[in-house]
Amino acid sequence: MFKNFWYAVEFATDVVPGKPKRVKVLGQQLVLYRKNSDNSVVAMSDLCVHRGAALSDGEVKGDCIMCPYHGWEYNPAGEVTKIPAHPDKGIPRKARIDSYPVQEKYMMVWVYMGDLPEEERPPIPDWSAVDDTDTYAAVTGSFLWKSNYERILENGVDVAHTPFVHGGVFGNPEKPEVPEFEIEESPWHCKVSVKLNPPKSKGLWGLINPNKQDLANRPQVPVSTTWWLPNMILLEVDTPMGAMKIFDVNIPIDEETTLVKFIALRTFFKGKWADRDAKRRVFKVLYEDQAIVDAVRPELLPFDLSDELHVKSDYNAVLYRRRRQQLIDMGWSVEGNTIVGEGPARVEARVIPSPIRKEVPELASAWNFKEVRSREIKAGIQEKEAAAKDVAAARKPKGAVNGAAATTKNEDVKA
Ligand code: FES
Ligand SMILES: [Fe+2]
Repeated sequence: MFKNFWYAVEFATDVVPGKPKRVKVLGQQLVLYRKNSDNSVVAMSDLCVHRGAALSDGEVKGDCIMCPYHGWEYNPAGEVTKIPAHPDKGIPRKARIDSYPVQEKYMMVWVYMGDLPEEERPPIPDWSAVDDTDTYAAVTGSFLWKSNYERILENGVDVAHTPFVHGGVFGNPEKPEVPEFEIEESPWHCKVSVKLNPPKSKGLWGLINPNKQDLANRPQVPVSTTWWLPNMILLEVDTPMGAMKIFDVNIPIDEETTLVKFIALRTFFKGKWADRDAKRRVFKVLYEDQAIVDAVRPELLPFDLSDELHVKSDYNAVLYRRRRQQLIDMGWSVEGNTIVGEGPARVEARVIPSPIRKEVPELASAWNFKEVRSREIKAGIQEKEAAAKDVAAARKPKGAVNGAAATTKNEDVKA
């Protein structure tokens, strides 16, 4: 999991004035609430610095939030402004928690989970189609998934699985070949575009197109899949009926749990009457994917590219893994289980650092909660690998030829 990105954490309409909302991302609990003065959203660490109560169980008071335990009040910057038990005493400098930058965009609340200054932050991708309500009708949904978000992301942009996992819906088992594809990429995204042969139309759609039933007569359908770092995908399908775009964030609640939130747009059957069916179609696809992805092992994406075998149609997944490795090398990965309440961290609270920690160096000693571990992850992996190699070498029977038993693995993709 990675810090320093904007994470869409909730649909904007689900953050209601006067009601603090608890969300979890990257293993860390956050409280979201709307300020009374201008209705803008505040996102803070959901952990009172006094005795660790969840502020999300508290109360919004003006632009502040009050802790439910002893009534301490925090302003939107995360500073304690009131300690009711001692109104005449000064407020300690350490009475503060991390407050994260927020943007409301494309129907969602985006929280910047990191400490980089504004100009160095990776961008929120361009999802302006979501705001184009003249062209598109939209449905939204959430899907809680007990799998790792990176496995889910790779599945979402994988063209080759559709004939097998979604045969009959939009994958075509009669034609599983992945033809030549176009690639567009930047440091933050990769888009693959391909023309696919659609499956036989069923139901109403089959009746409308009776002469398109055999493979030769069915027009090819342009399909593209895009990922954006660290957890977003888009599926675009240009059907003869019209265009479909499914934007999807895979929110890493922790390493093994993902909350998928999608916005599905369509240019056809735009009436409200068709919303239920549009939503049902997305859930059908998600259930089909879930059945496969939940059984994938190892549960987490391997760190080493050569730990799985890649072919040409895995191009975008391999690119994702390469970029991910760079992020690990940059020290952006976070160890979710060092954040409050998980595993060995049960007696220690760590949080994702917010920008103010860097912006105001004078506050360096004012943070009660330590920063989540990041850089150490890579070192830890290398250490474990080295130890495993030592053990393997010690076990090797005398006279064995070095590497004789090693299987050949595809280290690269020849696209
Ligand atoms: S735990 Fe929040 S005020 Fe005491
Ligand atoms: Fe799928």
